[in-house]
Amino acid sequence: MLYICKMACKKIVIAVDGYAACGKSTLAKALAKKLNYIYVDSGAMYRTVTLYCLQNKVATDDAQAVEEVLPNIHITFQYDTDTDAAQTYLNGKNVERLIRSKQVSDTVSRVSVHKAVRHFLVQQQQAFGRNKGITMDGRDIGTVVFPDAELKIFVTANLAVRTQRRYEELQHKGIHMSEAEIAHNLQERDHIDSTRKESPLRQAKDAIVIDNSHLSRSEQLNLVLEMVADLVGSNCGVS
Ligand code: DC
Repeated sequence: MLYICKMACKKIVIAVDGYAACGKSTLAKALAKKLNYIYVDSGAMYRTVTLYCLQNKVATDDAQAVEEVLPNIHITFQYDTDTDAAQTYLNGKNVERLIRSKQVSDTVSRVSVHKAVRHFLVQQQQAFGRNKGITMDGRDIGTVVFPDAELKIFVTANLAVRTQRRYEELQHKGIHMSEAEIAHNLQERDHIDSTRKESPLRQAKDAIVIDNSHLSRSEQLNLVLEMVADLVGSNCGVS
């Protein structure tokens, strides 16, 4: 059993990047809980900008039109004790469910290519990490948002596993998409996310790769907690 001290330990920044639905947020969330860190789902922020555009009929492929509405978008997170998870708010309204919809999933990668959108969100993401003690998952966290993060993890898993996991997650949230639709969406987003000009999805040179296709959640978590214990010192991580 690994125990991480919550009092006097050095706080670090943990960046978790990887392809769509490969368990990044599950890992980053569990790490934050165990370490008493802040957890930020950067994908939720891109999804929220996308939702705003869809709701307000902003042409999502028009970089200038999207840039013009950014000042109207205020994103916050609030912890919800019932679901034991952070909820995403757009201008004070809980949009956690809406940002997971098929329409948002189908559009978000096209909104995420815009330079102004990335600049707008990266600034906010960096502010969340100012005092360290944060885990953030996304596509460019170890390369752009926190290039100096003490620990960078790049998560991968095969497409069949990722599709199945996302299917179960959406079912749980009451959102219905077929496995074929999900697989198509994941592949399409991975392609756009890794080939876009602005901060594409890349493995940072100093990232540690974890293929979790055959790992359980707790095996993956323990693996990374051992890495954290190595970094924060022996007083803080004791097996
Ligand atoms: O983590 P997610 O699958 O919810 O992210 C949704 C989309 O947001 C993803 O397909 C691309 C974009 N994204 C991004 O461009 N950069 C990030 N740091 C996080 C997400």
